[in-house]
Amino acid sequence: MTITFVGHGYVGLVTACVFADLGNTVHVIGRNKEKLRTLNSGDPIIYEPGLAELLKKNLKSERIIFTDSYKESIPNSDVVFIAVGTPPKENGEADLSNVLLVAKQIGQHLGNKFTVVSCKSTVPVGTNRKIKKIIEDSKPAQSRFDVASCPEFLREGSALSDTFSPDRIVIGSQSQEAINSLLKLHRPLHGERVIVGLESAEIIKYASNSLLATKISFANFISFICEKANANVEEVLTGVGLDRRIGRAFLYPGVGYGGSCFPKDVKALIKSGENLGVDTSLLIEVENINTKSREDFLKKIVANTKGKNIGIWGLAFKPNTDDIREAPSLYVLEALIKKGYKISVFDPAASENIKTIYGNKITYSTNPYEAAKNADCLVILTEWNDFKQIDLKKIKNQMKEPLIIDGRNIYDPNTMQSLGFNYVSIGR
Ligand code: UDX
Repeated sequence: MTITFVGHGYVGLVTACVFADLGNTVHVIGRNKEKLRTLNSGDPIIYEPGLAELLKKNLKSERIIFTDSYKESIPNSDVVFIAVGTPPKENGEADLSNVLLVAKQIGQHLGNKFTVVSCKSTVPVGTNRKIKKIIEDSKPAQSRFDVASCPEFLREGSALSDTFSPDRIVIGSQSQEAINSLLKLHRPLHGERVIVGLESAEIIKYASNSLLATKISFANFISFICEKANANVEEVLTGVGLDRRIGRAFLYPGVGYGGSCFPKDVKALIKSGENLGVDTSLLIEVENINTKSREDFLKKIVANTKGKNIGIWGLAFKPNTDDIREAPSLYVLEALIKKGYKISVFDPAASENIKTIYGNKITYSTNPYEAAKNADCLVILTEWNDFKQIDLKKIKNQMKEPLIIDGRNIYDPNTMQSLGFNYVSIGR
């Protein structure tokens, strides 16, 4: 099939490469000529394991084309995916201006074949109907199209395997022709098909992300209880998570959830609820607990650290990505810099991104040992594998004070005690 993606961010680029790899001809439309040149040279711009190889392979086979031309891409496309950003506005609502602008341009360029227009960007309930109206008003008279919602559930760091092997493929549309076309496109992929109405598909995405965020905040809430009650939150949540109705996934307490989705999507669902006159206090509490997790963690650092030198391991919002959007590290760095601490950081991928914000206010280490050197306290913010089996004896010898404050519970407290560390973690 011939398909077009408008937008080459995380979702657009990864999904485009996957569909190209499955043998489709894929156009990817962007606005920034320099970025388009970089993508056409085989550099995916973003860091995602395996993506550069997949991109290069499909460029070589000429199955993926990066362009700024709607005219060359849209008229021949069976499916057009909108995958542009929906950043949160001041009031938490998703900003749809890019999505709606793109919808108009798609409408103006539709050709003579039936085209499905599907929004991959996470958009509040009701948006696809707005897209349909805009396209109806802007398209050539003879063009036939319909809209469908086909939300994306990929995670950063495992985006390729998530897209090649999704748990489910959700298709929401009122048009059987549009559903059939999307079913055909997704045929090579595993995963249960969930065929629903437009509005249900839109809500499935927000409900999934908000429930996952709720699990994390619940885990953090239980960690607060465990700390006061002298219990171990890992033991508790293992006991809880073995119930198959609950599951262990997304029950890991820590410094709170970050990234480009959970914080934004929880806010947007709260806003949708408010607009629809629904009480949203459950999700407001999810957000409050997330904030409290960060605040409590910062208090632990300040209360336990005697000197002014702090080493930090992990800056990305989670492992295997260089993404620092809404990362807990931003909150912790901001506060510690204000308090006058001298900070040395190490992250396997995200240091360059942090440098664009903090410049020479902090020091950037090239390895974890260097970041720990002469530190009065070592803080762990991201659970990269690199740290899990590191030579802790060597780390201790490098540090001024053997204090580790771990926001991801990556070590066993008894082992750390026997190694002579003062080890402070979450809910244990
Ligand atoms: C998420 C959804 O998982 C994905 O389905 C959706 O398409 C996009 O949003 P992503 O933001 O890439 O994916 O990361 P995810 O692995 O879900 O983690 C989000 C945040 O939650 C991270 O900051 C992570 O550290 C935190 N987290 C996750 C916890 O604090 N505890 C957990 O148990 C799990």
